[in-house]
Amino acid sequence: MQEEHIAIAIDGPAAAGKSTVAKIVAEKLNYIYVDTGAMYRALTLKALNDGVDPSDEAAVINLLLETNIELANDSTGQRVILDGKDVTEEIRYQPVSANVSYIAKLTAVRQEMLKRQRELAKDRGVVMDGRDIGTHVLPGAQVKIFLVASVDERAKRRHDENIAKGIPSDLDQLKAEIEKRDEIDTNRETAPLVKADDAVELDTTSLSIHEVVHSILQEVEKYKNKQ
Ligand code: DC
Repeated sequence: MQEEHIAIAIDGPAAAGKSTVAKIVAEKLNYIYVDTGAMYRALTLKALNDGVDPSDEAAVINLLLETNIELANDSTGQRVILDGKDVTEEIRYQPVSANVSYIAKLTAVRQEMLKRQRELAKDRGVVMDGRDIGTHVLPGAQVKIFLVASVDERAKRRHDENIAKGIPSDLDQLKAEIEKRDEIDTNRETAPLVKADDAVELDTTSLSIHEVVHSILQEVEKYKNKQ
């Protein structure tokens, strides 16, 4: 019998550790990993570079329709390719982080992203992380996880990550930006950040990466055993 293609949706607020654990879970299961936040970030980078106002919905959707965003899995993790150019590092920089939530709240942009994200998940085992995966993009996902952590812990993790990657970082500024992004992501009209009713919530504040990965893999096992 052919093995079922399982979709694992991992949602939660900014810097809750979603992409770190999603990547490891995908690797362990030999599934593809899709970082949907990177898609919104790539579009934001292009808008900033092209001088397009992030709140101008018509201009931003037109820009997206002529934009190619590829997520390429390689041994270093996931590379983000914007119109043929590797922007993996650039999309993590502060101007993108500060503007991405404005772009992500545009309804037309979300509709187009949802289409592209479903296409990426089609007919394969996938681990997808974002804000609306379990609620909108893959509502039929077999395993849904909602990761949370205190804002102080999230800011500290992102700060340490930036320093390790050589990205300029200010802890207080990061904390303020994370709070702002949470607020915009949670209160937007289209597909706001919210836990799906059938998602398992994990508070990662005092858990190690290994423990979180382990809990998610247990949920996958639980699902498989029910079949
Ligand atoms: O996960 P991240 O921090 O890279 O996400 C960047 C922004 O993109 C975040 O502020 C909210 C938005 N986003 C979203 O609205 N929906 C998703 N599925 C993924 C990200």
